[in-house]
Amino acid sequence: MAEHGQGHGHHGHGGQMTPEQQMQMIQQDIRLAKNLGQIKHKIVVMSGKGGVGKSTVAANIAETLQAMGYKTGILDADIHGPNVPKMLGIEMLEEEFNQYQFDKFKELVEAGLDTSLPEEEQREYIENQRKEYQHSIFPVTTASGLKVMSMAFLIDALDRPIIWRGPQKTGAIKQLVSDCHWGKLDFLIIDNPPGTGDEPLTVLQTIPEADLVLMVTTPNVVSQEDVLKCVKMVEMMNIKNIGLIENMAYYICPHCNEKLNIFGEGNGEKFAEEMEITYLGDLPIEEKVSDAPNKEGTISVLDPSDEVSKRFVEIIEDIKKEFLE
Ligand SMILES: Nc1ncnc2c1ncn2[C@@H]1O[C@H](COP(=O)(O)OP(=O)(O)OP(=O)(O)O)[C@@H](O)[C@H]1O
Ligand SMILES: [Mg+2]
Repeated sequence: MAEHGQGHGHHGHGGQMTPEQQMQMIQQDIRLAKNLGQIKHKIVVMSGKGGVGKSTVAANIAETLQAMGYKTGILDADIHGPNVPKMLGIEMLEEEFNQYQFDKFKELVEAGLDTSLPEEEQREYIENQRKEYQHSIFPVTTASGLKVMSMAFLIDALDRPIIWRGPQKTGAIKQLVSDCHWGKLDFLIIDNPPGTGDEPLTVLQTIPEADLVLMVTTPNVVSQEDVLKCVKMVEMMNIKNIGLIENMAYYICPHCNEKLNIFGEGNGEKFAEEMEITYLGDLPIEEKVSDAPNKEGTISVLDPSDEVSKRFVEIIEDIKKEFLE
């Protein structure tokens, strides 16, 4: 990662870059366009606030889409707290990930290699493939076929500690977006880090043609103020489709099944109205949803009959109706 991590938000083309750096930047932009061009719909999940359930929402939506038969990928763009793989039950550390990269490349080459050709031509073919894919990062695939890429796979990366150095973070994020080899996808879900700072902004700038931003909030007011800032930032990026999901909005008593609106009712809906964005529904707080250790995936996969899993199906149907048809 990160040969071209220099610059801090303003590495536009030109400026003080050497011709070689400019060339690298242009090539990266080409790879970006090529990789993103194969993806039909891009949905960014974000919130001005941390800990409101962005990753939970992103992971569940991705798995639900995949289960519905859509080819889906999820990009965990949170470089400080990349916990999507954990939520999906597919943790992999750097060494294993590197092996996986090698295996994927080998698979690709073997699939295209004509072994009846003279040895020299075969070698040339392999060399060309190596050049073609030298920047590619192959996403990890879950049992259900969901493709996943996360900084978590690069942890312990002794040759890439640069991803944790301040200014170069934006370069690392950009590279993750531009070089991930998703192939053809119906949906890519991007889990954005919290806030309105450099990192979430870089993600939005790198994926300017996002079809939809899903804002996640909790019912409390402080969280809503932060989300409002975030909505304004997204609107400044000229993204018009914004939907709000209110997470941890109510609690269902496990004994009597009564719905308890601990923080009052209809906060999310009111809030969406005020901000003039689309309200997509609320989700209860539920022990089964939390990412307690030793869970092998999200609630949507583990228990499709659960209230929350059903809500995600409804939310996706609404998203399709509201934004994608
Ligand atoms: N509806 C829910 N019911 C119960 N637990 C939940 C629910 N939604 C999220 N959680 C739990 O709350 C915690 C925070 O959720 P999550 O990590 O998805 O938030 P986040 O917004 O992505 O956080 P961060 O800002 O750190 O990236 C997690 O432990 C998650 O399992
Ligand atoms: Mg998160």
